Amino acid sequence: MAGAYDDRDGKIWMDGAMVDWRDANVHLLTHAMHYASSVFEGERCYNGKIFESRRHSERLRYSAECLDFEIPYTVDEIEAAKQQVLAANGFTDAYVRAIAWRGAGEDMGVAAKRNPVRLAIAAWEWGNYYGDAKMKGARLDIAKWKRPSPETAPSHAKAAGLYMIATMSKHAAEAKGCSDAMMFDYRGYVAEATGANIFFVKDGEVHTPDPDAFLNGITRQTVIGMLNDRQIKVHERHIMPEELEGFEQCWLTGTAAEVTPVGQIGDYNFEVGALTRDIAQAYERLVRQ
Ligand SMILES: Cc1ncc(COP(=O)(O)O)c(C=O)c1O
Repeated sequence: MAGAYDDRDGKIWMDGAMVDWRDANVHLLTHAMHYASSVFEGERCYNGKIFESRRHSERLRYSAECLDFEIPYTVDEIEAAKQQVLAANGFTDAYVRAIAWRGAGEDMGVAAKRNPVRLAIAAWEWGNYYGDAKMKGARLDIAKWKRPSPETAPSHAKAAGLYMIATMSKHAAEAKGCSDAMMFDYRGYVAEATGANIFFVKDGEVHTPDPDAFLNGITRQTVIGMLNDRQIKVHERHIMPEELEGFEQCWLTGTAAEVTPVGQIGDYNFEVGALTRDIAQAYERLVRQ
């Protein structure tokens, strides 16, 4: 049984070298700890191959640019580092977490140009993100926090600071016995869950929020491609809260969540229908190809 995340056997890649798991530490006066100057990736390795690995590495560098810093490693170097981590830990099926941040340095104010940018990559075995929801459908709360406008925060980056409201929303959801929370955006449109995108089905067609104020997930884009291949119409659009009542099926997509059916959001119920099951199974096959 694996212990706490800072107390495990294994190796972590840190700034170009493999270090023992328990030695992968940073100083208290790390800029990112105080000001959220940190971006990360969540990836899954299946049968020895990370699904869409390069796209994740590219997005990591892009997220850093959104936060005004440059990761001092190329995509190729990040790719090689991920492979090194998997090999060093003997994993063929694992979750991979890459994280880049402004470290400790000359600056301890808000500005941090003089502090080094750091990169680390860890991997661990991680099963279903929503436990048994994969079969029976997850129960979602409705978050009181709203996804911010792209003029308020870098909505399209996978940036640590955007997860502050996600953690609070998820805690509130779990206190009510839910697995997660669905969030609206700053305009009141349906946005996504705390760490996954959302899809709905009605009359054989699929509706999913326009990703103009949240992360346009790689899994989301993959699933839209799968729906296009099946010639199922996908409407990427703004979705009003009152529309939830009319949707028949719902699922979440994300690297960690994969394709997870949703059975309930607040007082609205959804069936785990044929299309949801088909897409979930087809995604499982695709990532293992
Ligand atoms: C807030 C948020 N939205 C969406 C996603 C889904 O993104 P992806 O499919 O690229 O993993 C994630 C997970 O990475 C996330 O954290």
